[in-house]
Amino acid sequence: MALLQILHHPDPRLRRKAAPVTRFDDALLRLIDDMFETMYAAPGTGLAANQVGLSMRLAVMDCSDARNQRVVLINPEIVSTDEQQEMDEGCLSVPDIFDKVQRYNRLHLRALDAHGEPFELCAFGLMAQCIQHEIDHLDGKLYIDYLSPLKRERIKKKLLKAAASA
Ligand code: NI
Repeated sequence: MALLQILHHPDPRLRRKAAPVTRFDDALLRLIDDMFETMYAAPGTGLAANQVGLSMRLAVMDCSDARNQRVVLINPEIVSTDEQQEMDEGCLSVPDIFDKVQRYNRLHLRALDAHGEPFELCAFGLMAQCIQHEIDHLDGKLYIDYLSPLKRERIKKKLLKAAASA
């Protein structure tokens, strides 16, 4: 396994809409393992493939406290949503910054697993929030897009400064 480099905002690769996954092979399984390792090491609750520079509709997640409930989402689609609420959110590509975002508290999802088998899932709370966040990534969106232009500008300056001094 290997740790992958996580891209930071405002890297333009985070803004590309990722392409559907069509090949289910050993290379994909290795990539998924590497993404989990990278996510756990960060540490984070989710990681989308375009955060590590790959234009693929693939994300890994683990919303459990014990860090032992792996979820792989490939070509995910939200079927229905319910109950909007404000939730605290952060992102490995926007390090050390957190803010409140409106998310659905419940959703019903359709996706493929690591072997290309379709499955459906009903998610609540943190898991539902994480799924919306990861699907946004796959569409080239970041949670800070929901914040005011002034806040976004401040965040961009802060991250550019951090990158310059790294
Ligand atoms: Ni993120």
